[in-house]
Amino acid sequence: MNNLKFIKKTDPQIAELINLENKRQKEVLEMIPSENYTSDAVLGALGSTLTNKYSEGYPGHRYYQGNKYIDEIETLAIERCKKLFNVPHANVQPYSGSPANTAVYFALLNPGDKIMGLKLSGGGHLTHGHPNVTFSGKYFTSVQFNVEPDGWLDMEKVALLAKKEKPKMLVVGTTAYPRFFDWKKWRQIADSVGALLLADIAHVAGLVVGGAYPSPVPYVDIVMFTTHKTIRGPRGAVLMVTDRGLKRDPDMGKKIDRAVFPGLSGGPHDNVTAAMAVCFKEAGTAAFKKYAKQIVKNAKTLSETLIKNGLKLTTDGTDSHLIVIDLRPQQVIGNIVAEALEAVNIVVNYNTVPHDQNPPMYPSGVRLGTPIVTTRGMKEKEMKQIGKWIVDVIKEVAHYRLPAEKEERAKFVKKVKVELWKNKKLGEIRKEIKKFAVKFPIFVGFE
Ligand SMILES: Cc1ncc(COP(=O)(O)O)c(C=O)c1O
Repeated sequence: MNNLKFIKKTDPQIAELINLENKRQKEVLEMIPSENYTSDAVLGALGSTLTNKYSEGYPGHRYYQGNKYIDEIETLAIERCKKLFNVPHANVQPYSGSPANTAVYFALLNPGDKIMGLKLSGGGHLTHGHPNVTFSGKYFTSVQFNVEPDGWLDMEKVALLAKKEKPKMLVVGTTAYPRFFDWKKWRQIADSVGALLLADIAHVAGLVVGGAYPSPVPYVDIVMFTTHKTIRGPRGAVLMVTDRGLKRDPDMGKKIDRAVFPGLSGGPHDNVTAAMAVCFKEAGTAAFKKYAKQIVKNAKTLSETLIKNGLKLTTDGTDSHLIVIDLRPQQVIGNIVAEALEAVNIVVNYNTVPHDQNPPMYPSGVRLGTPIVTTRGMKEKEMKQIGKWIVDVIKEVAHYRLPAEKEERAKFVKKVKVELWKNKKLGEIRKEIKKFAVKFPIFVGFE
């Protein structure tokens, strides 16, 4: 990146750290499903002079002078987004997914109202009503549903819970459920109790745009998505109100806008807004559609390879970009496998599996996904190779057992970590992967 030379002049220490991170991103296979590598154009907008501006308010109604071009940029971002998702209202100012979900609650609910969402340990998000420690769980009455032990949702059970609890809002979204949501069914459940329906498509927005995942737009009232995951833009989020939402409440868009600003935020991050506009332009291309479909093809090939080689996945596969490996048959914890994979330059995260008996700090799974490796141009052939490496790594570390004594656990993980980075077999795989990964570029724009 050529802006590194300016940083180097002023702050060589930070320039060197950025340089090292660039190198790391090139040499590893980043497979955390909520991440992506943006294009040079998105990075360029993020690093532009737009970061200098204050523009509280919305296009045409600002509390600061000098926003002629900012207004044009934000309007472009909004219009492109509306066209991309086929919605009548979009707000591109939320700083990220969590404040965006909070804005929906602030706009449409009163403190103490009931929200119903997927349990964190079953693949929900903290902002979906996770009890005690989160804003959504503390300021609202929260009811949570869960996936079944095999990882699938039982929609009849969820429907019964909704009938019993009568939530004011149903939040449907996930960080770990690898399957499609049946949006029509969710609408029926919401309608059976008169609930508002919020689709949180933080993870799958890019797949939705690319036609690789069902769109919630015809069925839900509000849609939230983050712009930094499969849709491959800057860190941020968007709130959209659908035709259905506006029919239900013609002021819903205005309420959402007012909740974002002045309700919860100050000045929008205009450099991010411009980067979103660029991202939406890229996401509207035929090349992006192909990319989105390839993400899913890659995830399916990877999951088939893992299953063929004896691993168990939650729901036995995937419809989307993400996979959760259930390590209970191997009796090794996710932390050890995630660390061992990092030791061979494959970056994933440890994760709970459905109805995990282990504590969340030492869960029985790892979660991984294909958005970044697909951005880098990898296809089915490479997924088979990556799958084989993952299987070999798990075999190599499957003998490690979490100590029964709670006090011993942190020490154990620390000790194993040192061993893993000295392990000869893992060292050999690391060399192979480094050589393999650098062949695939990390910043790619679209024509
Ligand atoms: C489903 C879902 N909702 C909301 C969020 C929150 O987004 P952020 O991390 O940008 O606050 C995430 C982030 O991972 C997510 O996966």
